[in-house]
Amino acid sequence: MTEFPHVHILDADQFSRQDIEIVLEKTKTIEALSKEDRVWGLLRGKVLASLFFESSTRTRLSFETAMNRLGGRVITTVGFQFSSISKGETLYDTMKMIEAYADIAVIRHPEEGSSRIAAAAISIPVINAGDGIGQHPTQALLDLYTIHKEKGGLDGLKIAFIGDLKFGRTIHSLIKLLRHYNVEIVLISPVDLALPESYRKALQKNKTKFEETEDIKALWDCDVAYITRIQEERFVDRSEYEKLKNSYTINRAFVQASRKQTMIMHPLPRVNELSTDVDDLPNAAYFRMAKYGVHVRMALLCLCLKTEIG
Ligand code: CP
Repeated sequence: MTEFPHVHILDADQFSRQDIEIVLEKTKTIEALSKEDRVWGLLRGKVLASLFFESSTRTRLSFETAMNRLGGRVITTVGFQFSSISKGETLYDTMKMIEAYADIAVIRHPEEGSSRIAAAAISIPVINAGDGIGQHPTQALLDLYTIHKEKGGLDGLKIAFIGDLKFGRTIHSLIKLLRHYNVEIVLISPVDLALPESYRKALQKNKTKFEETEDIKALWDCDVAYITRIQEERFVDRSEYEKLKNSYTINRAFVQASRKQTMIMHPLPRVNELSTDVDDLPNAAYFRMAKYGVHVRMALLCLCLKTEIG
């Protein structure tokens, strides 16, 4: 297989279809080796700096689990208040320190473009774990892995995105990856939370078939429904959030009315857009996604550190 060409993982745009296929293949290998207890030691002696300046449950813990399972070590800082950034230190200087302590860094930060600043500052690999309303490329790779694994491929699928398409960085990244596949996209959101123009233009340029609607029933014709919460923390105007916060709630009866066995995905956390009575339906994939995420991130850590898998 061709070599993985990237040092950093910053933006879904950097991935060609071939790069994505390397990640999918390596994740599959990691998954198989994990079952046989053959992954521990792959990154022995390596240190991951886990830098989370914005809240997270899944991304931080799954990266840290991934590194631990590979036999590496983790150093971590959570929130600005426990970092010298709160005393006025720049992100550039912070990253210069990290270079002295770790072999690879994962960063989540509220400002779009911050992971690029981090990567430009240092020579060790940097992985973007979410930069404001920008990108969340490793989430998109695990989303893609989930669809590929559970649907047997991507070409020919009809995929709906529901909820906050304006601020949802996981959607922004996944849409960028999907341009390499022959998929049809349905964008379901209130007009005020529509997908930003730049992403729509990219879909048009790529000749990806897509439609926009406010009608949630459009998901009944889709193979995959990717649901997201309305991102309260991104709103400047609180009254706008109050107006939009209950735009959609998807429950069990609604999912069961689907004409297809629509796979229900959600990057989580959820608030009230996805009812817990959906959880035990076989097509509810969101908790399985979190599990696949560890294997995807194990593969990414090995690929960025140029470590042979298997
Ligand atoms: N999906 C995701 O990014 O979750 P966290 O914000 O909990 O990391």
